[in-house]
Amino acid sequence: MTPQNQWEAFFDQHAPHYMQNTFTKNTVAEVNFLLEELRLPPGSSILDMGCGTGRHAIELARHRYQVTGVDISAGMLAEAEKAATEAGVTVEWVHSDATKFTASKLYDAAVCLCEGAFGLLSTDEVPIEHDNAILCNVSNALKPGAPFILTTLNSLAQIRKLTPQDVEQGRFDWLVIGWGTRAPATSALQSSTTSLKRAK
Ligand SMILES: C[S@@+](CC[C@H](N)C(=O)[O-])C[C@H]1O[C@@H](n2cnc3c(N)ncnc32)[C@H](O)[C@@H]1O
Repeated sequence: MTPQNQWEAFFDQHAPHYMQNTFTKNTVAEVNFLLEELRLPPGSSILDMGCGTGRHAIELARHRYQVTGVDISAGMLAEAEKAATEAGVTVEWVHSDATKFTASKLYDAAVCLCEGAFGLLSTDEVPIEHDNAILCNVSNALKPGAPFILTTLNSLAQIRKLTPQDVEQGRFDWLVIGWGTRAPATSALQSSTTSLKRAK
């Protein structure tokens, strides 16, 4: 892969602590919701784009689905591998940028949860191109008519958190409804990190 994008760097260092985030504590209920919505027979194949530490992928594998987890962060995938071994399940882990991912087979369903790459931009990325690339890669990986479930950040929630200082100092980019895309790279990462923490 090309040099680290900012989210890759962020999640690599955050990986050992990721499962302490409170928003990770409802995985079983979230997977039950997915199963109800997807209605797939056991053994079906599921692509988890931006799988992180594999919390959904592993739970889906426990339900006897064949799961592929894709993530840009080697650190997150290392945690995922450990957790899968502890859970006694097999999941295929793929280290890849979702915007460049090419599937080696067609899947019965795909999920992209808690952003899972969608909307997580580096400062040099064009929002529409970034997210379109992910949608195209997911679409190309699916069998015809296969379902896809995506959850992502609510841009209105970001606006609600704005202060007049954020606007005056250019910390918020109205064009992309995001934090720090016009600021220097290091402060942009800090802003994005803060925004990620706030958004949860
Ligand atoms: C907030 S976490 C969500 C992880 C998991 N889906 C969950 O629900 O816990 C976002 C994940 O997306 C990954 N990610 C960010 N940008 C990505 C990209 N361009 N390609 C693949 N994964 C990416 C990060 O490494 C991180 O693991």
